[in-house]
Amino acid sequence: MSARIDQLIAATTLDEKIAQITQVDRTAITPEEVAELGIGSILSGGGGNPEPNTPQTWRAMVDAYVDASRRSRLGIPLLYGTDAVHGHSNVVGATIFPHNLALGAAGDAELVTQIARATAVETAATGARWAFAPMVAVPQDPRWGRTFECFGQDPELVAELGAASVSGLQGPGPGIDVLACAKHFVADGGTTWGTTGGAQWVPWWVRAYGGPGWHIDQGDARIDEATLREVHLPPYLAALAEGVGSIMASYSSWNGQKVHAHRWLLTDLLKEELGFQGFVVSDYHAIDQVSADYHEAVVRCLDAGVDMVMVPFDHERFRTTVRAAVEAGDLPLERLDDAVRRILRVKEAMGLLDGTAEPLPDPSVLGAPEHRALARRAAAAGAVLLADRSAALPLPSDATVLLAGAGADDVGLACGGWTIEWAGGAGPVTPGSTIADGLAAHLGPRLVATGATAEDHRPLEGVTATIGVVVVHEHPYAEGLGDREHLALEPAQAELVRAVADRVQRLVVVVLSGRPLSLGPVTDLADAIVAAWWPGSEAAGLADVLVGAIPFSGTLPLSWPDGDLVSPSRVPDPTPPPRWLPGHGLVAGRSAMS
Ligand code: BGC
Repeated sequence: MSARIDQLIAATTLDEKIAQITQVDRTAITPEEVAELGIGSILSGGGGNPEPNTPQTWRAMVDAYVDASRRSRLGIPLLYGTDAVHGHSNVVGATIFPHNLALGAAGDAELVTQIARATAVETAATGARWAFAPMVAVPQDPRWGRTFECFGQDPELVAELGAASVSGLQGPGPGIDVLACAKHFVADGGTTWGTTGGAQWVPWWVRAYGGPGWHIDQGDARIDEATLREVHLPPYLAALAEGVGSIMASYSSWNGQKVHAHRWLLTDLLKEELGFQGFVVSDYHAIDQVSADYHEAVVRCLDAGVDMVMVPFDHERFRTTVRAAVEAGDLPLERLDDAVRRILRVKEAMGLLDGTAEPLPDPSVLGAPEHRALARRAAAAGAVLLADRSAALPLPSDATVLLAGAGADDVGLACGGWTIEWAGGAGPVTPGSTIADGLAAHLGPRLVATGATAEDHRPLEGVTATIGVVVVHEHPYAEGLGDREHLALEPAQAELVRAVADRVQRLVVVVLSGRPLSLGPVTDLADAIVAAWWPGSEAAGLADVLVGAIPFSGTLPLSWPDGDLVSPSRVPDPTPPPRWLPGHGLVAGRSAMS
């Protein structure tokens, strides 16, 4: 610990210490308030975008807050955080990389580091130096709506790729360029279906987005300590070895106790046993779930080891509550000082305390051609050839190709959740290249892009071709909104596959999804099946593997079920064995496993 930090802490008032551990959603605070209070951090949550949403308006928005923090009494720069989880994915015009599950399928640590580096450059170009990434959960149940954010179900794979991501974000030097945040500590991927909170928490976004959700996300991990250590902890050991500066606590519980208030997990295990020197940030509104009594919630979480609180809105209530807790002796001042020290230590490692931080790139770097080329390569590398019964792929060079399915030519459907908006969405949400664009460039007039969708088969009328390519999709979602008991493909999309099958000699089905889907009859109708996951804004990379310009090399990073998984309430009904196991993936026509 440097003398500078000691001096700073000695010069800091109680209110300034509290402000330093406060993270506020940018919609709930002005730059003037930041300057007056010396707030430690601001965030843009999923979809927390300026109007209009451009790289330049982002930069102006973030700069206004950072400049304001420099004008505060102590002049300590704030950290601006955002969910740059697959590229700087809130920003229109950013390069949107494949989600982590696709990178798990690619299984290439060097590729992950390059992507994280490009993400760091694009994020810093908007002034933000903190990415709430990487997600290092080890998902055990694909019904979880956050499966796509994870690298896979194997702890070793997640550890390797998570560390590669930390290294790319934070940079090669001894300091930190863009702060990484391994999340969500710990066992968020190990919760049990049907254990999500209930009435004790009703986040506003459940009401805002409506619809079903939250069955397993934010639930309870009912596992013993040995399983926690074996399955869910390894990625944190790897991230720590890479010097990760921040870790986000998980909304979920471990055997009934909220992680945010779990002193043994956050302090005894993470900080003392594993020696974590950075800071723990709470998740969005998460401390509110710990107790209906806000004073108690604040005290329990800070006391357990949370260092920075993602409030996110009513920062005045948070600050006055912490002050009252310290004055009443409910929260030891030493704990507050330790939290401040941890945050300042990270800011120091980033060069923010002495003005040696990496200079910020120009916002024009967002969506740079070399970043898009990298994203395109990653989209190809993550594609898994699940089946190819009659050597339908690569598409023969003399074949005519009929293309159908809404996902074939839709950037939003290829990007998935956490893209521009929190839950993502269909449509031309940001510039990019689609599968249709890529196939058109490769095939020229041999491509018949029909525009037929599951809702509208009419464009198929009178069209025939040698080969049909149908792109089916799962509609984008985020977090518990995507918790889904039945993983079957929507019946209307299966019908589209059937309609195309009647018009072609061979059929290729490409699946855009955040997890494995149970394909039912499509498995038998299709000659070849490709799992493309959510490949991002450069989905044209899938065309590169479909035509054989790049060979298929992806393998499954998790098992692919066949039929419905069984909830504990339905046990002893057996869950059918998986259709394909982790590691499965055909490479140049033969199984990668053989
Ligand atoms: C998510 C986090 C995310 C945070 C900030 C939460 O709802 O669980 O993963 O980093 O929001 O947007």
